[in-house]
Amino acid sequence: MKTQVAIIGAGPAGLLLGHVLRAEGIDCVVIERQTPDYVLGRIRAGVLEQGIVGMMARLGLDDRLKAEGLPHDGFNLADGERLIRIDVAALTGQQVVVYGQTEITRDLMDAAAARDLEVIYGADDVALHDIEGDAPFVTYVAHGKPQRIDARFIVGCDGFHGPSRQAIPASVARHFERVYPFGWLGILAEVPPCNHELIYANHERGFALASMRSATRSRYYIDVPLSERIEDWSDDRVWDELAIRLGPEAAARMTRGPSIEKSIAPLRSYVFEPMRHGSLLLCGDAAHIVPPTGAKGLNLAASDVHYAGEALVRWFRAGDGDSVADYSDKALARVWKSERFSWSLTKLMHRFPDDGPFERRMQLAELDYIASSVAAQTSIAENYVGLPV
Ligand code: APR
Ligand code: PHB
Repeated sequence: MKTQVAIIGAGPAGLLLGHVLRAEGIDCVVIERQTPDYVLGRIRAGVLEQGIVGMMARLGLDDRLKAEGLPHDGFNLADGERLIRIDVAALTGQQVVVYGQTEITRDLMDAAAARDLEVIYGADDVALHDIEGDAPFVTYVAHGKPQRIDARFIVGCDGFHGPSRQAIPASVARHFERVYPFGWLGILAEVPPCNHELIYANHERGFALASMRSATRSRYYIDVPLSERIEDWSDDRVWDELAIRLGPEAAARMTRGPSIEKSIAPLRSYVFEPMRHGSLLLCGDAAHIVPPTGAKGLNLAASDVHYAGEALVRWFRAGDGDSVADYSDKALARVWKSERFSWSLTKLMHRFPDDGPFERRMQLAELDYIASSVAAQTSIAENYVGLPV
């Protein structure tokens, strides 16, 4: 098979890029290892910046997002005693929209056939070839038969564990990584949220986050040592811990219920450079990971897709090679700023095992400063709502 752009991975990054390219009349094929149900089974953060909301609107794929997404004017930081509200709307003139990443993926998936976006699921042994030349190709195995797709460009949207990043030679690769000494234990339950806005809490006993998926479905997290086993966390134990860490006010409004999903995920900051090598571009988790504090993962994938889409459209329309050559620098400038924000919010809101009383006082002093300073709140708000693309 021959196409203009071969996209590896049908997560949100790959599907969004596929739609962006098809909307511009560029041929592309998305190659995914898993089944659609498997892809939709992943539960991840659900706070959308205006950037991805605007992309879905321009693609005409935002009907459900407009109907079911919950616009939020702000969020809260808690220090064990009080709530510090960050009034994002007043400070930046913008809102974020709470809408599950699974729902975005579903909207993109459902629209694929009607937009003539071909997605091949169940592709085994995906491999990239000749990425340094101008005729790269992808091979894979489908139903036991070897297949080959020739393209002008390959875009790796295959997440942290996919083969694309590994295809870039070690001689040019640079890795930057920070692994955190805790994970987030998440619980999803069919109960109304305890608060109409998100609460990120830093309590003596550790971090907690109160989030939501809808008016009747809540998502909560606590941080736990990586040695913890999910079997040892009954629903009651999780709710008890949340009630303590979120503080009495939120706890009084918290409705408990059986978990629909419960799991522990590790936290990591990671950046791979460069994000382009030859005819291969990387987007999303294939190139970088942020810890979930601040919910930047999906939004960052969307800004990569925006830059990559723009570069590829220029290339196919006008033969403008500079835009493809500049992709990595352009994307990385925004990636590093999002990495910085996610890392600093993680440091501010979590208890690290090596932290002593001094570090604790530093965190409390910073939270107190944020509570009293419009400048500090503005800085947090403009990062939370999303830096310009
Ligand atoms: N061959 C084909 N597809 C693959 C392969 C492979 N060898 N390896 C991984 N994939 C697929 C995965 O099955 C997955 O569907 O690539 C896709 C990558 O999707 P995500 O991991 O969701 O990554 P991305 O689309 O970049 O998402 C960015 O969304 O899921 C969050 O944490 C993520 O928030 C981040 C954002
Ligand atoms: C979520 O709702 O899953 C969520 C929200 C905000 C975050 C992380 C996760 O920062």
